[in-house]
Amino acid sequence: MELLRFSAFWCGTILFGSFLLEETEAMIIKVKRLCKFCDEQATNCTGKGRCKVECDRTAICPQEDDVCVSVWRKRDDNVTFDTVCHNPAQRLYGLVLENYNNSKCEMKERKGMGAEFFICSCSEDECNEHIIFNSYVASQVVAVILVSLVPLMVMAVVVITSFYCYRVYRQRQASSRRKKGPPLDFSDAHAIMIDDGSDSSSTLANNLNHNTELLPIELDVQVGKGRFAEVYKAKLKQGSSGGEEQGFETVAIKIFRYEEYASWKNEKDIFSDADLRHENVLHFLTAEERKVQRQYWLITAYHPRGNLQEYLSHHIISWCDLWLLGSSLSSGVAHLHSDHTSCGRYKVAIAHRDIKSSNILVKSDLTCCLCDFGLAQRLDNNLSVDELANSGQVGTARYMAPEVLESRINLENIESFKQADVYSMALVLWEIISRCSAIGEVKEYEPPFGNLREHPCVESMKDSVLRDRGRPEIPNSWINHPGIQIVCASIEDCWDHDPEARLTAQCVAERFDEMEYLDKLSDRSDSEEKIPEEIFVVDEK
Ligand code: ADE
Repeated sequence: MELLRFSAFWCGTILFGSFLLEETEAMIIKVKRLCKFCDEQATNCTGKGRCKVECDRTAICPQEDDVCVSVWRKRDDNVTFDTVCHNPAQRLYGLVLENYNNSKCEMKERKGMGAEFFICSCSEDECNEHIIFNSYVASQVVAVILVSLVPLMVMAVVVITSFYCYRVYRQRQASSRRKKGPPLDFSDAHAIMIDDGSDSSSTLANNLNHNTELLPIELDVQVGKGRFAEVYKAKLKQGSSGGEEQGFETVAIKIFRYEEYASWKNEKDIFSDADLRHENVLHFLTAEERKVQRQYWLITAYHPRGNLQEYLSHHIISWCDLWLLGSSLSSGVAHLHSDHTSCGRYKVAIAHRDIKSSNILVKSDLTCCLCDFGLAQRLDNNLSVDELANSGQVGTARYMAPEVLESRINLENIESFKQADVYSMALVLWEIISRCSAIGEVKEYEPPFGNLREHPCVESMKDSVLRDRGRPEIPNSWINHPGIQIVCASIEDCWDHDPEARLTAQCVAERFDEMEYLDKLSDRSDSEEKIPEEIFVVDEK
């Protein structure tokens, strides 16, 4: 019973509440607008900018929908303001009111009213007292735009002009350089030989010669011959004209016939990667297509000491020389194989795939630089197995790793290509030691597996390296020298039958670094043992 009474009470309360709400809604009154209302009166307002209506009468508009209106008129010298309340549903002076929902009264000129005629309307109390002429609004907008845009435009003009001037300046410089023939980019002081007998140098940075004008080059003697190309010593002419004798730099030109385009293109593309630059990699200047001669050229630094095979054939070296040659060779290969530059930036690792003593040049400071990148392969992480397999079994049979000889290189892993290079590098290190006075009796130069014929084929190399697991001999006498003992241990680790068990080139380079102290200790005695160079030097190319 109690519950019934309680429910009845609440139902009654809710019903009464909703009735009250409906009543209140019905009772909402629309507030009438307060407007300045002086009808027509004279004014000093010139019809520009902002004006205040001098009307001291504020009226409650008669109708709920009325808005405030001001009209500015100029008839001859008679300038007036009209301030009124007006229902926008009706015309005023034959005009439909516009923008009357605005809180501000912004004047708009109406033509055809027999005089200068401006009208505005708005819907806030006394909003027709302060008037804004639209020309003023427009001018305000223009001013804002100008203020914000002009500095930007000025900056854009300055930037474009400076850029244009810079381009013109660079073009003029480039063309005057081409006319005079001074060095193009001689930033590396150890690559191109200046013809003063020293090995100073320069570079065009690893650039291609995009100029249509070919470099002024005069070929000299042939200094090398490979499978696809011949190498010439040459003069790159430069310096002043006008009667004075022209200067020149000595460069090496590798010349490919038109048919060997693919080899030229591969080497040019490898060289064009600026990250390849390293003191132990041959310094590349530029590549050219010589249409008239139907030839492709690679222009590089020239190293008068020639290749390592020739050098070892004609010189007996000291431990110090061995250290320089071996340490620089392993540093060059390590740089090639590395996927980062010395500054830690990412670079594409490269496999040389034809490391041998005739593809290594000896610089004047007796350090090595790698050359002949005709078979090199960029080890891009995204290369497919098919793309890697396409390159097939390449290189020189004598220096081929066992897995390359039997075409069983692991194409799934780019490291395999580096491991094959390390095997070849070990053979070159063996060649270097074989000509070092620190091993005792030094025999005539012989290439690794020298007992085989001059250019052994893959099949005979398979017999020696795979079937017999043969490697060049390391006589006991060699390991009497503490440094050579360490190098020999590294060599044996590098030519291991199992590619995975081989050292990396970086590791070999580090082992050489650790031996630097031996270099100082043993150099003195070695240099005395050294056979005078003149006896062995054949005429330099
Ligand atoms: N033989 C091959 N390339 C050479 C070079 N750049 N300098 C000297 N001899 C070379």
